[in-house]
Amino acid sequence: MGRLENKVAFITGAGSGIARAAAFLFAREGAKVVIAELKPELGKATELAVRDAGGDALFIETDVTKEDSVKHAIAETVARYGQLHVLYNCAGGSIPQDAPVTTVSLDVWQHTMSLDLLGPFLCCRHGIPELIKAGGGSIINMSSVAALQGSFGLHVYMTAKGGVISFTRALAGEYAKQNIRANVICPGMVLTERVKQRFGGTAGTPPTPQAEAIRRRLQEHPFAVGQPEDIAHIALFLASDESRMITGAVIPADGGLSAY
Ligand SMILES: NC(=O)c1ccc[n+]([C@@H]2O[C@H](COP(=O)([O-])OP(=O)(O)OC[C@H]3O[C@@H](n4cnc5c(N)ncnc54)[C@H](O)[C@@H]3O)[C@@H](O)[C@H]2O)c1
Repeated sequence: MGRLENKVAFITGAGSGIARAAAFLFAREGAKVVIAELKPELGKATELAVRDAGGDALFIETDVTKEDSVKHAIAETVARYGQLHVLYNCAGGSIPQDAPVTTVSLDVWQHTMSLDLLGPFLCCRHGIPELIKAGGGSIINMSSVAALQGSFGLHVYMTAKGGVISFTRALAGEYAKQNIRANVICPGMVLTERVKQRFGGTAGTPPTPQAEAIRRRLQEHPFAVGQPEDIAHIALFLASDESRMITGAVIPADGGLSAY
């Protein structure tokens, strides 16, 4: 029997990166997986690939920054699968235009806060009532090592991801009596396509100064760079009943970057 047998999981951003890896893993462990993704071509491709691998998946075009879209996606999930047990709020990411507070464009604020903080907030707003109806469930949010320590440059992203940690703790306390757990993962560097393109390392792309700084730090922290599956495995554990004593936890998956 799979580790997520009879569970329905709603995964945002599952057209690529960590969430896509989680969609495969969750489906392999028996979950029915909803791919809530902004870009139809990516979402559809994940749906087909998960099905080809023998899983049960449904793509629902979703913009997590828009309340109507999230509401519709949760309603479609329940219409298709009857229940909802796992809410994995993964869509997000920093953008290269992020900068220190005195110089950053407020467009960056709008984009990043909407995607990285409002997105999980809206998914919880509409997902939690369904978790309660199902008798409980697991919420997994995504923060970052950038929220665990001060670092240069990404002021808006750090602020949003810090908010995700506080929000997760609030959820854990508020909904424990309804048998809902809420935890947050803080990855270091994960080599998704977006990250590889942004920080160089692909053929013909010169490394950015930021990439150079990261490379120097990685010499001291050899576990700090990983693959999407490394994070998806943590999410799988948090989604499953194996982690039933864990709630309100902030889990660094950063190879020690925030510890030493
Ligand atoms: N990759 C890393 O190094 C890293 C490090 C720390 C934290 N994280 C966090 O992990 C999460 C996943 O990161 P990733 O690198 O896998 O991302 P990614 O860019 O590979 O994938 C993000 C997916 O979300 C989708 N998306 C974008 N806007 C959306 C919206 N409004 N509604 C629905 N879907 C939308 C994108 O189309 C894409 O498919 C993010 O929250 C990110 O902040 C990533």
